[in-house]
This record gives sequence, structure tokens and C-alpha cells, in this order.
Amino acid sequence: MDKLSDFTIRVATPQDASAVTTVLKASYSVLMPAKYDPAILEAVLPVTTQANPKLLQSGTYYVAETASHQIVGCGGWTHERPGNGEVESGLGHIRHFATHPDWIGRSVGRSIYEACERAARAAGVKAFECFSSLNAEGFYAALGFEMIRRVEVRMGNGQMLPSILLRRYI
Ligand SMILES: CC(C)(COP(=O)(O)OP(=O)(O)OC[C@H]1O[C@@H](n2cnc3c(N)ncnc32)[C@H](O)[C@@H]1OP(=O)(O)O)[C@@H](O)C(=O)NCCC(=O)NCCS
Repeated sequence: MDKLSDFTIRVATPQDASAVTTVLKASYSVLMPAKYDPAILEAVLPVTTQANPKLLQSGTYYVAETASHQIVGCGGWTHERPGNGEVESGLGHIRHFATHPDWIGRSVGRSIYEACERAARAAGVKAFECFSSLNAEGFYAALGFEMIRRVEVRMGNGQMLPSILLRRYI
């Protein structure tokens, strides 16, 4: 476990579902309106703010937790590409990152990403891809990701979400 000054990073478990959903709701509903139309968010947020059970049991999804056991951030990676489950040797996929609005800019996201990178390297991953929200492009750029192209990501309910496909060699 990474010990930082005011939060620690640990592997998430299915028991974290409601705390992770709380962070996703707080983060996406407060931060995403800066870049997306209200109509798009009304359609996608009910889907994207639910903790993903498969990620919670993957062993490669992480939470940032305070000393008082409050979950303030989440994110992870998988071998499977989100959407179609495709697996390509040496390629990992960044999944479902969020930091609670009260905690942004305090290295929560970077710390979770570093845990992802360490674990992925150990598992033979050579590059990460990420479907980034328009909000998070600057965050992923700070982590060393480069834009491949703009994309429209089809969400579970069919709604298309303007996003950016990014890649970083690790
Ligand atoms: C994107 C997000 C996870 C970043 O989390 P965070 O905990 O605030 O990020 P950190 O504090 O670890 O920042 C890491 C680096 O990214 C930079 N960064 C973070 N957000 C940024 C932004 N919006 N624009 C430019 N740079 C940004 C920081 O300056 C920092 O740089 P440094 O380490 O070189 O000083 C958070 O803003 C969020 O939850 N956004 C809304 C949900 C979202 O879009 N999630 C991604 C879905 S793909």
C-alpha cells in the first residue's frame, strides 16, 4: 500500500461499490458540465456514475482512501478494451478515473495512475490506451499521454459521448 500524507491507495473490492458510486457521482456531476452540454450529461451520467462491478473485482482497480476511511478517488486498468472486451497483447486500458471535487489537484489521480502503471508493467503491459473525457485531457497529458484522435464513445444506453483516445507507452 502506498502511504501518502493524507490518503493511501489500495486495491478496490466489491464492498467499495457504494463509496465508489458516491465519488463518481460527485466528480462527474460537478466537473463534467465545464465541457459537456447538459442534455448529453443527463443521458450519460446515470450510466457512468455507477461503480462497475467487474472493475471492482478485477484486482486492478484502485481507490484513494483517507485515514478516516473516506474514498476520495478511484481508477484502474484492464487488459480488456472497454466496450468490446478485446484483448491485445501488451496493451492495457485505463478505466473509470474520478477524484472527488473536494480533492482535485492533490495528486489523488496521479497516485492512482502510478499504482496502475506499476501493476500493468509487472503484467507485461507496454502501452496504455485511454478513452478520456474532454475534461481529463489535461490530466492525462500531465501523465505523459498523447492524443491519437477524437472519438465518439457509445455508452451502455446508446448515447454517444465526445471523447479523446489517448496513448502512453509505459
Ligand atoms: C481528471 C481527474 C481524475 C484528475 O484528478 P486529480 O486528482 O485532480 O489529478 P491530480 O491532482 O493527480 O493531477 C495530476 C496532474 O494532472 C494535472 N491536471 C489535473 N487535472 C487537470 C486539468 N483539468 N487540466 C490540466 N491539468 C490537469 C495536475 O496539474 C497534475 O500535474 P502535475 O502532477 O504535473 O503537477 C479529476 O479532475 C476528475 O475526476 N475529473 C472529472 C471526471 C473525469 O473526467 N474523469 C476521467 C474520465 S476518462
